Amino acid sequence: MKRKLKRIFLVLLIAFALIQFIRPAKNLGNAEATTDIFHAVMVPDSVKGILKMSCYDCHSNSTRYPWYAEVAPASWLLASHVKNGKKELNFTEFSQLSPRRMKSKLKSIAEQVQKGEMPLKSYTLIHKNAVLTEAQVRTIKAWADAATQELNAKNQ
Ligand code: HEC
Repeated sequence: MKRKLKRIFLVLLIAFALIQFIRPAKNLGNAEATTDIFHAVMVPDSVKGILKMSCYDCHSNSTRYPWYAEVAPASWLLASHVKNGKKELNFTEFSQLSPRRMKSKLKSIAEQVQKGEMPLKSYTLIHKNAVLTEAQVRTIKAWADAATQELNAKNQ
């Protein structure tokens, strides 16, 4: 019995070592691109801080990688979050969207944070400082409304 356990442990250890060779590409683009949302609508520093802290790791071209993100399978999970997050919403390329799409994304941003769906639970479990306070949720909602009005005022 003991020997069998030892063997299972050894196999797991080797498997763990082997999966480390599969390394997903990193998301390390320019964090301050000219296509960033800041160039499309007004983003006050307070909002910018919240978005960078709680959303940019998955919704921008530049992720801050913690040490455990180097270790598979955590690295795979993160890569998949970033890939799917960016597909839905990429703050770094936001200003390239049509005004209509921008407005629809702003609405969705407000909805997601109000419902507590974003940031993802699996992320806030580890990134405690990404958890949004009620005040921060209100700040995001108010900003999303203001940004929508700003786009409307530009007749877009
Ligand atoms: C850990 C990665 C991660 C973080 C952090 C994160 N998101 Fe997401 N987000 C995703 C993924 C993945 C999706 C794709 C859909 C899904 O899985 O729910 C998504 C989808 C979205 C969508 C589109 C939802 C829809 O159906 O229209 C919005 C809007 C959004 N996120 C906003 C935010 C905002 C705002 C923040 C910060 C407060 C944030 N997200 C933080 C990963 C993340």
